[in-house]
Amino acid sequence: MMVLFRGFLAAAAATLFSTVQSAALQQVTSFGDNTSGTEMYIYVPDAVAAKGASSDVPIIVAIHYCGGTAQAYYSGSPYAQLADQYGFIVIYPQSPYAGTCWDVTSTAALTHNGGADTSSIVSMVQYTLSTYGADASRVFVTGSSSGAMMTNVLAATYPEVFAAGTVYSGVPAGCFYTGTVDGWNTTCAEGQSIHSQEVWAETALNMYRGYTGKRPKMLIFHGSADNVLYPPNFNETIKQWTGVFNMSVSPVSTQTGTPSSVYTKTTYGNGSVVGIYGQGIGHTVPIMGDQDLAWFGIA
Ligand SMILES: *[C@@H]1O[C@H](CO)[C@@H](O)[C@H](O)[C@H]1NC(C)=O
Ligand SMILES: *[C@@H]1O[C@H](CO)[C@@H](O)[C@H](O)[C@H]1NC(C)=O
Ligand SMILES: *[C@@H]1O[C@H](CO)[C@@H](O)[C@H](O)[C@H]1NC(C)=O
Ligand SMILES: *[C@@H]1O[C@H](CO)[C@@H](O)[C@H](O)[C@H]1NC(C)=O
Ligand SMILES: *[C@@H]1O[C@H](CO)[C@@H](O)[C@H](O)[C@H]1NC(C)=O
Repeated sequence: MMVLFRGFLAAAAATLFSTVQSAALQQVTSFGDNTSGTEMYIYVPDAVAAKGASSDVPIIVAIHYCGGTAQAYYSGSPYAQLADQYGFIVIYPQSPYAGTCWDVTSTAALTHNGGADTSSIVSMVQYTLSTYGADASRVFVTGSSSGAMMTNVLAATYPEVFAAGTVYSGVPAGCFYTGTVDGWNTTCAEGQSIHSQEVWAETALNMYRGYTGKRPKMLIFHGSADNVLYPPNFNETIKQWTGVFNMSVSPVSTQTGTPSSVYTKTTYGNGSVVGIYGQGIGHTVPIMGDQDLAWFGIA
């Protein structure tokens, strides 16, 4: 009897779930300036679409890893389900390059309005703001690995666009520079690009020289067993953003076992920079949707 009852509940839940999640990942083929040929995919929950062009909802840009696709990050990350629950739009950009790493290495990519992947992704944000009337003050960015590198680069090149970012196992903005499109910087990957706080901050500030407005707050995740983008990249990224915010690199608080046993959370300055470092965690730190939404002020 109990088994039958459970079966009934499961069936009812499945029906409810399929009704709720009838929206799908859609490609948008015309979204504005797209010099680098980046592809745009979007997930708009039904409840958001129903509101039309005045939704006033947040946007999360969710950026895949090397070898990934928009579809893979859509099905392999929690953002679409969370979008159904909390009512926001997810943009999944897709890299135009073989191997699908992001161009975080060319001078154009590392320059405000430089006309590379960074500019194309911002075109996608502008398209989404105007098409859905989303909230320009609540545009967020996240990514894993190459997508995490891109998150740091977007925060540096377009600080006026993004209110906050979360970075899953990346490197500082500019660390991967090679001067070529879609390159690979082994020195940086292997954690041998060690610089002062000032040098890292200047590297980021140079990407949009003269900008004096608000900047995205940054949550940086990394694992101590990362053998792709080696662990020193955690501290170097913390140096970069604390430097940009004129904060001390020494944390104001350190919480071990937070948000779960193997992680340590360090908070800097007024709280605009936070690190979460996982002991024994490899590449990449598993996405923590609850941490992201709390950081973005969505949940
Ligand atoms: C951007 O380029 C890609 C690849 O050529 C194409 O699929 C997409 O439709 C383009 N979008 C725009 C807005 O030009
Ligand atoms: C990687 O970046 C470092 C500076 O951080 C630079 O010295 C090196 O030449 C770069 N590597 C490549 C392959 O461009
Ligand atoms: C990061 O910096 C802190 C403080 O300087 C140091 O204790 C820690 O070992 C560093 N971590 C890594 C991964 O380099
Ligand atoms: C950091 O300090 C510099 C120099 O005083 C200032 O121009 C800049 O606006 C400050 N940055 C932030 C984020 O407060
Ligand atoms: C921290 O200070 C910066 C300016 O330096 C400001 O933009 C930001 O909103 C502050 N963050 C918090 C969490 O108060």
